[in-house]
Amino acid sequence: MWESLSLRTRLLLPLGLMFGAALLLGAFSLQIFAPTQLLEETEPAARAARSVAAALNGALQTSANPHATLDAFVQSLGTSEAIGFRRAGAETDVHPPTEVRTPLGRVPHWFVHLVEIPEVGATYPVTIEGMRVGNIVFAPDMSADIYEKWVGFLAIASSGIALMLLTGIIAHFVVRSALGPLQNLGDGLTRMRMGDYEHLIPATGPPEIRKSSLEANELAHTLRRLSQDNRSLLRRIVSLQDDERRDMARELHDELGPLLFGIRANTVALLEAIPPDKAELGSAAEGILQSVETLQQANRRILDRLRPLYIQELGLERSIQTLLQNAKAQARDLALTSEIDARLNAIDGLLSQTVYRVIQEAVTNVLRHARADSLHVRAAIEDRELVVEISDNGIGFPADPRLGRGLTGMLERVRALSGTLLLLREDGRTCVRCRLPAGDSVAAAATTET
Ligand SMILES: Nc1ncnc2c1ncn2[C@@H]1O[C@H](COP(=O)(O)OP(=O)(O)O)[C@@H](O)[C@H]1O
Ligand SMILES: [Mg+2]
Repeated sequence: MWESLSLRTRLLLPLGLMFGAALLLGAFSLQIFAPTQLLEETEPAARAARSVAAALNGALQTSANPHATLDAFVQSLGTSEAIGFRRAGAETDVHPPTEVRTPLGRVPHWFVHLVEIPEVGATYPVTIEGMRVGNIVFAPDMSADIYEKWVGFLAIASSGIALMLLTGIIAHFVVRSALGPLQNLGDGLTRMRMGDYEHLIPATGPPEIRKSSLEANELAHTLRRLSQDNRSLLRRIVSLQDDERRDMARELHDELGPLLFGIRANTVALLEAIPPDKAELGSAAEGILQSVETLQQANRRILDRLRPLYIQELGLERSIQTLLQNAKAQARDLALTSEIDARLNAIDGLLSQTVYRVIQEAVTNVLRHARADSLHVRAAIEDRELVVEISDNGIGFPADPRLGRGLTGMLERVRALSGTLLLLREDGRTCVRCRLPAGDSVAAAATTET
């Protein structure tokens, strides 16, 4: 439960509870201490009433006409509210007030009830010749005292509420000033996870968060350096691979090619020289010829795969078209369509080799694994990006796709150029989508041509 609360709630909830408890405690202590205090406050007046009763009784005893003296006393008492005289038989019970009116309105019942006004009133008997003729009644008006307590209570409660609101507002702003920078820090870390090390996290907010932001920026700096190192290593691997392939292609072409040609020419000469009655020699020579031709074809295929021979001579677009024609020749039932941007010819170097290799490997994969009857290849320059897409309607990637040498090589090449490679299944088609940053020269060339 606590775990799911936001920082703001975590701060405001205990504060609110604390103020609520303080108010309750105030009300509780009011209930405990107010009655004693009220009793103490009325004590002198109660003593005065007792003395008045005693003095009156004394005067009546010595008076010649006690009834006249009593009347005179009652008259002189006038309308004094706290001390009065009630004749015998009249109601003498003294009750605390149940309703108190003040200049600010009525004090609520619950408050009067809460204060628990004590029975402060008292009656003292007045006698003439041993006969009780009435009582001196002490009934102080507690309204003023209750009013005073009420005002005190209102002052404490309202200042408590005001303080609570103020604390709440301060907590709100403090949390906001901490949450903003924390949000920035989180966004920055997410950007880093996505591979964006360029945008630094603003170092704002309280020192603790500022320090974390600065450290995250340092981390971004280190990661950027590492990823640059990584990329240049990949570039080196890829170009070393290309160099090695080129060397191997040269060896195959220059060494193996002439040798195979020599064997073939000699076998043809041998075939021609074999007399017709040596049929078994003839068929052996035919066998050699066939094997040599198969070897020559295999040599050509390996050469084709090892080196994109024509990129520099033909330009990238034509090289890709040639590659696709060869693929079509290998799979006659495959409906092969393509959209190859003519502006690709403006590209050369590692970028053009990467585009060529990605298409080459993906198309080979379709022929080998996809069991597809339609293949579409698209290569275009979009804004400042090169987009290459190879899609087929075949069986799709296996449920647990394992990158073989082909896809791994593709991925390494694409990463070396800071590009992205996605393997998707969209609308019933398997799709290899590769995006590569086109670089300024390509983008400029592409815009001038359009
Ligand atoms: N177009 C495709 N359709 C279906 N499966 C594919 C496709 N391309 C690749 N795959 C699967 O991905 C695996 C890895 O491919 P790759 O890395 O090129 O290695 P290889 O081609 O040597 O097996 C393949 O074995 C195959 O199962
Ligand atoms: Mg493959």
